[in-house]
Amino acid sequence: MEFNFMFYSFASFFLIFLFRCLFKFFKSNSRELPLPPGTLGWPYIGETFQLYSQNPNVFFASKQKRYGSVFKTHILGCPCVMISSPEAAKFVLVTRAHLFKPTFPASKERMLGKQAIFFHQGEYHAKLRKLVLRAFMPEAIKSIVSDIESIAKDSLQSLEGREITTFLEMKTYTFNVALLSIFGKDEVLYREDLKRCYYILEKGYNSMPINLPGTLFNKSMKARKELAQILAKILSTRRQMKLDCNDLLGSFMGDKEGLTDEQIADNIIGVIFAARDTTASVLTWIIKYLGENLSVLQAVTNEQEAIVRGKEKCGEEQTLTWADTRKMPITSRVIQETLRVASILSFTFREAVQDVEYEGYLIPKGWKVLPLFRNIHHNPEIFPDPEKFDPSRFEAAPKPNTFLPFGNGTHSCPGNELAKLEIMVLLHHLTTKYRWSMVGANSGIQYGPFALPQNGLPIRLTRKP
Ligand code: HEM
Ligand SMILES: *[C@@H]1O[C@H](CO)[C@@H](O)[C@H](O)[C@H]1NC(C)=O
Ligand SMILES: *[C@@H]1O[C@H](CO)[C@@H](O)[C@H](O)[C@H]1NC(C)=O
Ligand SMILES: *[C@@H]1O[C@H](CO)[C@@H](O)[C@H](O)[C@H]1NC(C)=O
Repeated sequence: MEFNFMFYSFASFFLIFLFRCLFKFFKSNSRELPLPPGTLGWPYIGETFQLYSQNPNVFFASKQKRYGSVFKTHILGCPCVMISSPEAAKFVLVTRAHLFKPTFPASKERMLGKQAIFFHQGEYHAKLRKLVLRAFMPEAIKSIVSDIESIAKDSLQSLEGREITTFLEMKTYTFNVALLSIFGKDEVLYREDLKRCYYILEKGYNSMPINLPGTLFNKSMKARKELAQILAKILSTRRQMKLDCNDLLGSFMGDKEGLTDEQIADNIIGVIFAARDTTASVLTWIIKYLGENLSVLQAVTNEQEAIVRGKEKCGEEQTLTWADTRKMPITSRVIQETLRVASILSFTFREAVQDVEYEGYLIPKGWKVLPLFRNIHHNPEIFPDPEKFDPSRFEAAPKPNTFLPFGNGTHSCPGNELAKLEIMVLLHHLTTKYRWSMVGANSGIQYGPFALPQNGLPIRLTRKP
């Protein structure tokens, strides 16, 4: 009896094993394809140490020089393939996007919420994306230009005559714009509570994920819970008053959509996360680049002053409109060139859901795949003299998949129009009414997670006479 059981289990184990091998053998001969070139470094530690011990861009660039635009390496215990050509980026992000799923460390998923848009593929993702795009497409954000403008004016006014840390102040601005786009104007009531919780939450975002009382992670998980409670309160008020709003929350709450409160909360927190530091660091870089090049600053200022004068002549009201923001070609090129040079999201993460062949190489199932946006943006064959800040290079439209500050394909940034809009509105008031000078040495760059001018760019801001 005992023996029989063992025999059968052994036999079936053997058969399964045999079938799996045969199956693999017949399924694909992809195993015979070579892996991309490169080194994996020591297991587990891999090349993580090298990656973090130097400017990550130097690490990527030296690898690319040595192995070409597709190479393998090992970071944070995961074997991965890094890609840095427009064709490979198109393959991973657009044409074969279904073979590469988004992937994040579990602790980040827990903090942002498992149901947030970034972590999903397929039907649920498509549904969320439709709802987010609906709230952030030009038609929808046109109506909030003047509200964004009041936020910009108030922010700048509060900074007049002070020495400030640009990045911190820009974070406040982009946070307030994010709340406006999510909740509309009514929820200023909750602004301070949301801000307090969110600022605690983010402190834990890059901390060790150890959930013991007193740790940063534990505190931020607590703040995460409190945020969800505030959101629940806002949801129930809106339901009671049967408010029908065309902001992001209204889009998520639509009857037909059938999202749970938890799904809504995870995605609201996710959008704040995606919207705030990204846009604030781009603004910080623009303020630095304009401060360093007076001829570019003058060109932007002239363009913005022409908009002010145009309004005075027509006797129009002195508030910005969507149409005004379409008359800012020079400012737009400054934004594009900043997105290229600074490449604040140097890369993104995907994971192969099956063995994939690319250009004769095997990308094994489960391996991470990192499209390196920054390397594409700094490739001298695509952008000559790549380290130079020269907005005029965008007078001609870039070729497909050579300029990907907002990614491409199914997960590309749905907030890109809002990001550009809020940057233009702030620059309008900054260049027409203020001067600024940088305080202290300004050549350093700090990493983590985004590239940022050292110390967040301390400046002194004064009103023009
Ligand atoms: C200049 C500022 C910004 C930059 C550079 C930026 C960049 C990006 C990039 C590169 C992605 C794609 C990542 C990937 O494919 O893995 C992305 C995704 C996303 N961004 Fe942005 N973003 C910015 C501002 C915003 C704003 C203002 C919002 C919201 C209002 C936003 C919301 C999102 C969301 C929700 C996703 C996830 C989309 C999905 O997974 O389908 N972003 N962003
Ligand atoms: C904080 O840590 C304690 C002890 O591990 C745990 O019981 C509690 O649930 C944690 N708090 C949160 C919000 O996760
Ligand atoms: C400013 O930018 C212009 C246009 O890109 C460039 O020709 C000029 O050399 C730059 N000046 C400085 C001081 O960097
Ligand atoms: C995204 O990919 C498509 C298909 O290759 C391409 O037509 C489009 O120009 C790309 N977008 C960007 C921003 O390069």
